Amino acid sequence: MTRIKLGMVGGGNDAFIGGVHRIASRIDDRYELVAGALSSTPEKAQASGQALGIARVYDDFKQMAIREARLKNGIEAVSIVTPNHMHYAAAREFLKRGIHVICDKPLTSTLADARKLAIAAERSNALFVLTHNYTGYPMVRQAREMVARGEIGKIRVVQVEYPQDWLTQQEDFKQAKWRTDPARSGAGGSTGDIGTHAHNLARFVTGLEVESLAADLDAFVPGRQVDDNGHIMLRFQGGAKGMLWCSQVAPGNENALRIRVFGEAGGLEWAQEDPNYLWHTPFGEPKRVITRNGSGAGDAATRISRVPPGHPEGYLEGFANIYSEAADAIVAHREGIEPAAEVMYPTIKDGLKGVEFIDACVRSSARNAAWVKV
Ligand SMILES: NC(=O)c1ccc[n+]([C@@H]2O[C@H](COP(=O)([O-])OP(=O)(O)OC[C@H]3O[C@@H](n4cnc5c(N)ncnc54)[C@H](O)[C@@H]3O)[C@@H](O)[C@H]2O)c1
Repeated sequence: MTRIKLGMVGGGNDAFIGGVHRIASRIDDRYELVAGALSSTPEKAQASGQALGIARVYDDFKQMAIREARLKNGIEAVSIVTPNHMHYAAAREFLKRGIHVICDKPLTSTLADARKLAIAAERSNALFVLTHNYTGYPMVRQAREMVARGEIGKIRVVQVEYPQDWLTQQEDFKQAKWRTDPARSGAGGSTGDIGTHAHNLARFVTGLEVESLAADLDAFVPGRQVDDNGHIMLRFQGGAKGMLWCSQVAPGNENALRIRVFGEAGGLEWAQEDPNYLWHTPFGEPKRVITRNGSGAGDAATRISRVPPGHPEGYLEGFANIYSEAADAIVAHREGIEPAAEVMYPTIKDGLKGVEFIDACVRSSARNAAWVKV
């Protein structure tokens, strides 16, 4: 199979998530990175591209979009892994030239940009993939499948949390600096950076949308301009209730994303730091564990599992599953057919929902945690 020619915007020397995207794109050998505008200045962009040995290195993303669209063998897809405030401008350039976009979350730094990008994606012939990577974990797919099959009954309660501790104090390195600068991060701090993952995970597993919320956001670190902790009550369509906690000031927590869902007939529990196991409690019965690629795992999970049970899979493989499903969709698009029904990567719609969630949290908190519509 010919590999999809991929470009990258962001992900230069010393960047974090660009390297993860590069690994994820190669795990199933579906992509080849051939072009990049990897950094914010031409000098750094050139140095970063050369360090990776990329064939075509550009000074900036606009130049890259224009030239690649004109090349006979130009890129077919681009990964956008810049800080949040650059997602819109970069994605727009590629979408309008028919180049598929694989963009990291949150979709944009403002709601206005998110709405404009949703329109641009709708008008474009290209696909838009949002790397809400936690939806690519097999045991998360398992949970979603079990909820959809009614195995825990009608959902009543959703508890989801994503605590971290790395912003417990004022930090001076670049990933911390842009994330605490509202001009680059957006109006939400922890809500935008990790609350959106928790929100998306709850939506993905339950299939329910949040209708309204009440958010109590804080910036505990003196001088910080965006929230670093949020307690958010959720009301879902159909009457389910939820609580979402996101925090970057919770010492002892690294990436402790966890979801618990309780229905009329049972409960499910999954934790990102122990991701190969899903706990299921049919009401009145002992708690049981379903293992990735092992006992109890259904088709949705097994289809995207790689190694036998007991050998851990995690963050990189989950990311790779999104990339590989995007590859399936790109190939189907190329051939003018629909991708297989199981292909379920997050889309622009999920991105817009995420930015609407951030906006609602900020609006609610400004009104002393009043209930607001999302
Ligand atoms: N899905 C996840 O698990 C996950 C994890 C971390 C980060 N992210 C998201 O990924 C994005 C990047 O985060 P990060 O931690 O890697 O940030 P980072 O600061 O480590 O890297 C950002 C990169 O973008 C480059 N850049 C900035 N402006 C640019 C421009 N105009 N053109 C080209 N390159 C430019 C920087 O030079 C740097 O190389 C953010 O949107 C973040 O929310 C997602």
